[in-house]
Amino acid sequence: MTSRTQVGIVGAGPAGLLLSHILHLQGIESVVLEKNSRNDVEAIIKAGVLEQGTVDLMKEIGAGERMMREGFHHEGIILRFDGRDERIDFPSLTGGKQVTIYAQHDVNKDLIKARLDSGGDVRFEAKVDAVYDLDTTQPKIHFHTKEGEAVELACDFIAGCDGTQGICRPSIPAGVLKVYERLYPFGWFGILCRAPPSSDELIYAMHERGFVLVSTRSPEIQRMYFQCSPTEKVADWPDDKIWAEFRARLATRDGWAPKEGEIFSKTVIGMRSLVVEPMRHGRLFLAGDSAHVVPPTGAKGLNLAASDAQILARAFVAHYKQNRVDLLDQYSATALRRVWKATRFSWWMTSMLHTFPGADEFQHRLQVAELDYVTGSRAAATALAENYVGLPIE
Ligand code: PHB
Repeated sequence: MTSRTQVGIVGAGPAGLLLSHILHLQGIESVVLEKNSRNDVEAIIKAGVLEQGTVDLMKEIGAGERMMREGFHHEGIILRFDGRDERIDFPSLTGGKQVTIYAQHDVNKDLIKARLDSGGDVRFEAKVDAVYDLDTTQPKIHFHTKEGEAVELACDFIAGCDGTQGICRPSIPAGVLKVYERLYPFGWFGILCRAPPSSDELIYAMHERGFVLVSTRSPEIQRMYFQCSPTEKVADWPDDKIWAEFRARLATRDGWAPKEGEIFSKTVIGMRSLVVEPMRHGRLFLAGDSAHVVPPTGAKGLNLAASDAQILARAFVAHYKQNRVDLLDQYSATALRRVWKATRFSWWMTSMLHTFPGADEFQHRLQVAELDYVTGSRAAATALAENYVGLPIE
């Protein structure tokens, strides 16, 4: 069977769903194709810090109600190093901005609901086999529906929002894309536990034994991570050993300790930075993780997906409403400027806070000095804060 739409979107993560919904509000039609089931998409566990701009976007498109009610609105973070806490205050450093802690799968749930409530065409368990005719005026997506029917979807444009492992990026002919990549020599061991929050704000802790992040999911469920080897085995970490590691790395001079509780999820996450250029080939536009990956230290992944979606939506709207191609032509360059700044910030946070294998005392002292400087100088603290709450979209 053949079918037609204006914008064919591969992937129902935040990038694809945001794009689809913004376009819908502007009267532009799209079809979203997602290989996983709705349940699986709503369960993908990822970081959960929303920049001020992402929060504003969710509200603007009418998908922000639950986020505003259930999310935690944080005005700062704690940097813990050398046995002490220093706080970075966002509103006073950024002209009133803050962040909201709200898990990515909740963002996805709310966006799926918004799309379906307004009659959006989101097909789950749709297997995309190929995207092709990318350098013609009618690119196409070939996919199989949940029921096994083969469909050719002809589009004006295709948005590749299908993540790192998706089909869109490798559909661009060899030699077109340049890939920039950095692997980090460590991973994060993440846990979810049933306990009250240990802290009112996120704690990013630098320690010679390795980095720790204290985050949260709800008043009852906490999210914490500790730096580990990239090949660490979950099976080697019984609960007692995990809590002993957290206590050791999080110790302060005044005897702080995390609130402990039953651990019901343990995962090891790899850490890398990756950017591909350009983010467009013909009428295929990449957005979100299909074009870039950041280590989680800066909490930027979801927010970059949101800014790509906004920049791309703006370009499609200019095309359909004003017959303009300039914003489509500039999409890759505009998106990449913000992507590279977030890549730099994530790399910098990662480098400042982690213990690199083989690092010596000198290196450790430099990292303590950097944290001391960042938290002691208003100029340096502002640089961290304005990146953390999110740089503007240009
Ligand atoms: C999380 O809550 O999962 C989280 C928060 C902040 C980060 C990374 C992950 O920088």
